[in-house]
Amino acid sequence: MPITPTANIWMNGELVPWEQATTHVLTHTLHYGTGVFEGIRAYETPQGPGVFRLTEHIERLHNSAKIMMMDLPYSVEELVEATKDVVRDSGLPSCYIRPIAYFGYGEMGLNTLPCSVDVAIACWPWGAYLGDEAVTKGVRMKTSSWQRHEHNTMPPASKTTGNYVNSSLAKVEALKAGYDEAVMLNPQGLVSECTGENIFVARNGRLVTPPVSAGALEGITQSTVVAIAADHGYEVIVDDLARSDLYIAEEMFVCGTAAEVSAVNSVDDRTIPCPGVMTSAIAADYARCVRGELDKYSHWVELVK
Ligand SMILES: Cc1ncc(COP(=O)(O)O)c(C=O)c1O
Repeated sequence: MPITPTANIWMNGELVPWEQATTHVLTHTLHYGTGVFEGIRAYETPQGPGVFRLTEHIERLHNSAKIMMMDLPYSVEELVEATKDVVRDSGLPSCYIRPIAYFGYGEMGLNTLPCSVDVAIACWPWGAYLGDEAVTKGVRMKTSSWQRHEHNTMPPASKTTGNYVNSSLAKVEALKAGYDEAVMLNPQGLVSECTGENIFVARNGRLVTPPVSAGALEGITQSTVVAIAADHGYEVIVDDLARSDLYIAEEMFVCGTAAEVSAVNSVDDRTIPCPGVMTSAIAADYARCVRGELDKYSHWVELVK
């Protein structure tokens, strides 16, 4: 989806004009994929833009950096405030937010330890990642020929830029084959997640989502869905899923900050009832939750004012 140049970008402590937020071609991370990033959304609320679970996203950024042995020069609190500054300064009622920390210019070679660390935070308007009809009509999924990397290849718990080569290969393969998104299996053949979303399927009346041990990211949307599902009395278990579990799912959806809650209508051309009752209820409540309309979860909406 195209980026609309919109707002000033926070770079190493300062807001700079969009077109000046550039880096040198010899920036370390550009060569080795060693940066870490987050994907966050701010939603319109009656009190102005609210960033959904902002602190937890920035904590995950810090954890991603820790896994990469990258010393972030800004605390969680500082990056939370910087993110609010970017959104406030943009004047946008709602937006997608992309913080990134990367090894900068000045060193080359695979040793990251001597490298400087730069941090930037950008925001821009971004619509429904899997399309406007993802909730009502659902998306078509294809099992990827690319495996999700395992824990000793690339640590899936770190949103490291280089990890997303794997996701990009799978995404492009699925799109070229006429599908909307890819299901990724791990090297053991178990369902892991999608290229940028966690997976839920309904089997025997309860929701199942694959564990972190299967190579899935610990999704913030996933945890939101678990809370909302419990409010509806839906049982959720974290368990391994085989590819064929998806084919015979009673319903299925994927979730992530970008994709929100998107229904799935088929996997490898096996039709799945769509949108399912649980999927519709959870998607509707998720849309209210992120806008601060569910009192129980209003503390998750961090206002930028
Ligand atoms: C590989 C992957 N899985 C799952 C997710 C969903 O995570 P979240 O709900 O925290 O956005 C993302 C998005 O960050 C992702 O990149």
